[in-house]
Amino acid sequence: MADAMIAAALAARERSYAAYSRFRVGACVRCERGTLHAGCNVENAAYPEGVCAEAGAISAMVLSGGRRIEAVVIAGGGGAPCMPCGGCRQKIREFAGPDTPIRVVDDTGTVLLERSLAELLPDSFGPDSLL
Ligand code: THU
Repeated sequence: MADAMIAAALAARERSYAAYSRFRVGACVRCERGTLHAGCNVENAAYPEGVCAEAGAISAMVLSGGRRIEAVVIAGGGGAPCMPCGGCRQKIREFAGPDTPIRVVDDTGTVLLERSLAELLPDSFGPDSLL
């Protein structure tokens, strides 16, 4: 399953629309049904309107009926790991638990880093905070 997630993230990265940064990103989330959902970054001439790959993958999951994120893979370019931005960490938090694994791979699919959501977003605010 991890390999399938990496393959899906890499395929999504190929579809990226990174017209301004040229920084292609693909992401894949696995939901509670075991289904994989992919997304890519989509930039915009009005720069702040661009969306991250993780956001696209989460939207695809929600659209298909998934409500829990069991694992995340993010595929960036070569060099430094493409870490999820703060906003994406919070978006993942909405649907994931503290132990949810987040793997960052390069453009060949090599795993560069693995962290839990709690490591990337400690002491977080989430749906349970509103109860
Ligand atoms: N980006 C993502 O899609 N995900 C990340 O985890 C980090 C950054 C995108 C946003 C923008 O299109 C480009 O990478 C450069 O910041």
